[in-house]
Order: sequence, then structure tokens, then C-alpha cells
Amino acid sequence: MTDLKQFIRDVADFPQPGIVFRDIAPLLRSHFEPTIDAMSGLLTAGEWGRIDAVAGIESRGFMLGAALALKHGKGFVPIRKKGKLPPPVVSIPYQLEYGEGVLEMQQGSGRLLLIDDVLATGGTLAAAADLCLAAGYQVDALGVLIDLNLIKDFRWESQPARTVIRY
Ligand code: PRP
Ligand code: HPA
Repeated sequence: MTDLKQFIRDVADFPQPGIVFRDIAPLLRSHFEPTIDAMSGLLTAGEWGRIDAVAGIESRGFMLGAALALKHGKGFVPIRKKGKLPPPVVSIPYQLEYGEGVLEMQQGSGRLLLIDDVLATGGTLAAAADLCLAAGYQVDALGVLIDLNLIKDFRWESQPARTVIRY
């Protein structure tokens, strides 16, 4: 299998001094389909059969989550930054590697696969999973393309984040 990591570009001091940003744009440009295939493998066929929709976290989680949903014939649920979705919405504050913010989603029901591109501190993914519950959903699995390995043994309600690429 192609080593997808080689297509990720390291950018020093972006978006802030001291952060080494792992840029997935070159990977998506040249190897989008193999990337989605690799993320598909994070769930068994049985697990894919049980979920109702893929939830993606704005904005890079949209690219990956929407492609996964389409590939598996599932719906897509957006988790957005504050002020982008029309009401009624459920909101949650969160901390991330280089800032803080508020995530929002609309209420719903069913079993979700929650998707994002990068796990850094885990603040975004954990808050998004909490938000899914608050909005009425069940979270069957959490998947990310890249684990930056900033935190050892990330867990949300005892579930690990399933990852394709690790640093
Ligand atoms: C980045 C990344 C993850 C999050 C990871 O999002 O896409 O969502 O940070 O960091 P954490 O594990 O420390 O929470 P960003 O807010 O930069 O949004 P973007 O996808 O819109 O660029
Ligand atoms: N790269 C890309 N996205 C990120 C990073 C990073 O290093 N940290 C938090 N989100």
C-alpha cells in the first residue's frame, strides 16, 4: 500500500510560532481516493452497516467525512464553527492546539461515525463527540486521518480515535 504520510507537508510556525503544521492539501491533491480507502478500513463492514451517517468537523473534516459518507451510501451531518448553521442548534465550547472556539450542530438521531483530519490535543474531537450526544445522536466510532501523538491514549467515553497516519 502507498505510504500516504510522504505526501503530507510539514510547515513550521503555522498558523502560530512553535506549531509544526501537517498540511494534507498535497495528499488530497494527489491521493484522495487512496486516503478515503484507507479511512474506510478504520471500520469493519459490519460497523459500516450499523451507522446511519458520517459527521464531519468543519472544515477539513468535511472533505474526508463527506467522501466517506458518499462511498458508503450514508448521510452526512456537518459540525460547524459558531454562527454558521441556522437555528435551532446545540453548541459546545472547546479548546484546540492553537486556540479555542465553539462548535455547533443541529439536532438529530441515529448512529454516527465522527470524522476529522487531525487529532492534536483531542479537544476538538472530544467536544464534537459530546456535541453529537447533546444533539440526540449516538457515536459509534471516531476516526481521524492523522494522530499527531501529542496525547497518549486518547479516549472518548472509553473509545479510542481510530487513525490511519501516526507521528
Ligand atoms: C484543526 C484540525 C482539527 C483540530 C485538531 O482544526 O482540523 O479539527 O484542529 O486539534 P485539537 O486535537 O488540538 O483539537 P482547525 O480548527 O484549525 O480548523 P480547520 O479544519 O477549519 O482548518
Ligand atoms: N496540522 C494540521 N492541523 C492541525 C494541526 C497540525 O499540526 N494541529 C491542529 N490541527
